[in-house]
Amino acid sequence: MALITQAPRGTNDVLPDKSYEYQYVERVALETALNYGYKEIRVPVFEHTELFERGVGDTTDVVQKEMYTFFDKGGRSITLRPEGTAGVARACMEHGLLGDALPRKVSYAFTCYRYDKPQTGRYREYTTFGVECFGAAPPAADAEVIALAAEYFSSLSMTNYRIELNSIGCPECRKVYLEQLRAYFAGHSGELCGTCLGRLEKNPMRILDCKSPVCAAIAEKSPVVTDFLCEDCKAHFDGVQALLQAMDIPYVINPRVVRGLDYYTRTVFEFVSELPKLEGLALGGGGRYDGLIEELGGAHTPSLGFGLGIERVLLHLRELGAYIPEPEPCAVYIANRGEEALVQAAKLANELRSEGLSAQFDIVGRSLKSQMKYADKLGARFTLVLGEEELQTRCAKLKDMRTGTEEAIALEDFADTFAQIWFRLAEEEMLAEFA
Ligand code: HAM
Repeated sequence: MALITQAPRGTNDVLPDKSYEYQYVERVALETALNYGYKEIRVPVFEHTELFERGVGDTTDVVQKEMYTFFDKGGRSITLRPEGTAGVARACMEHGLLGDALPRKVSYAFTCYRYDKPQTGRYREYTTFGVECFGAAPPAADAEVIALAAEYFSSLSMTNYRIELNSIGCPECRKVYLEQLRAYFAGHSGELCGTCLGRLEKNPMRILDCKSPVCAAIAEKSPVVTDFLCEDCKAHFDGVQALLQAMDIPYVINPRVVRGLDYYTRTVFEFVSELPKLEGLALGGGGRYDGLIEELGGAHTPSLGFGLGIERVLLHLRELGAYIPEPEPCAVYIANRGEEALVQAAKLANELRSEGLSAQFDIVGRSLKSQMKYADKLGARFTLVLGEEELQTRCAKLKDMRTGTEEAIALEDFADTFAQIWFRLAEEEMLAEFA
């Protein structure tokens, strides 16, 4: 039975009283992205496995250990997306979005799947907000995507995080770095874990992501990539930094940020929480991937982007005590007794809803007393009681549940009158907040 009544490990149900938090951070994200020219794209939750093997890289932890891969009934190998970039790049290529009107800017907010050990901020199903900018080589593009993320965080009143910046060079200068790295790790081959031994020949940079404490300790003393940047990559990195400084976006250089996915070239960055309870948690990360589109069979298209973990952004905001606007649960609850009152309540509720207000009335035939209890549980701001007397006098008492004050209101133009009361109250409360 437990299998039926318990969600799979590492997943989160977003319950009705918390979903507004997701809606808010996702809405602000997509709106911020739109101001930078990013329009939303939606792509399938699953893709051909090969896309991730080629795009993300077959020596990465994500591909080697964390993918949800299965054969569908047609015998195709299918994988639930472990991240957003590969599928979004595939869709843009497939639909000819990378042919002209470059740079092409797209954004997305959707779930991804990684089979990893669940812990705080790490889930098997998580939500990512990301942006991808295709066809933009100069440093201005890098600075702009970082500025977008910073602007988003600022719109959420998010503080206590840092931007860690690095450059991992181009395939040319990385060749020299990889040789040095290989030589360094070869000197420790007796201590490396099995997975990392396999990576030694093929892709020694991926040893830097290994979570085993022994490999991590060895990696700590390894050569750093920034010491091997070629002139062009160095100039590009300097250009990104000059622009970030000009835009007053604070960052720190961390030459150990190499990212865990294979497609990155040159600029890479991470947004890291600095809150004591979450210190070091990556809220998001991204960078340039100038070779990805070619790797997937397209034309050379220098591109870049980032992905944030929405659950991690929420963890950070909650820990910070940041304000997340909560929608009014119910502006007015119309309690009613008797058949005629029920009809009147239904009509009034519909009129209120047409005015854009949230209204509810009893639809299950409860006693007046339990209707009032229910209104209280809903958090209704006002209640209106309709019974025989109210129908006869065509007038009913509107009660402010927060202050306890009552006001008699004519039923004929109730929706209009209530809308006026409601919007005046909203204005007063907003003014009081800023006073
Ligand atoms: P990533 O660093 O693998 O990059 O993931 C981006 C963010 O997603 C992480 O920083 C983290 O906040 C969140 N995240 C990743 N895995 C999990 C998980 N298991 N549970 C909760 N949150 C998680 C990418 O995925 C790239 N596609 C980002 C990118 C876009 N680069 C360029 N464009």
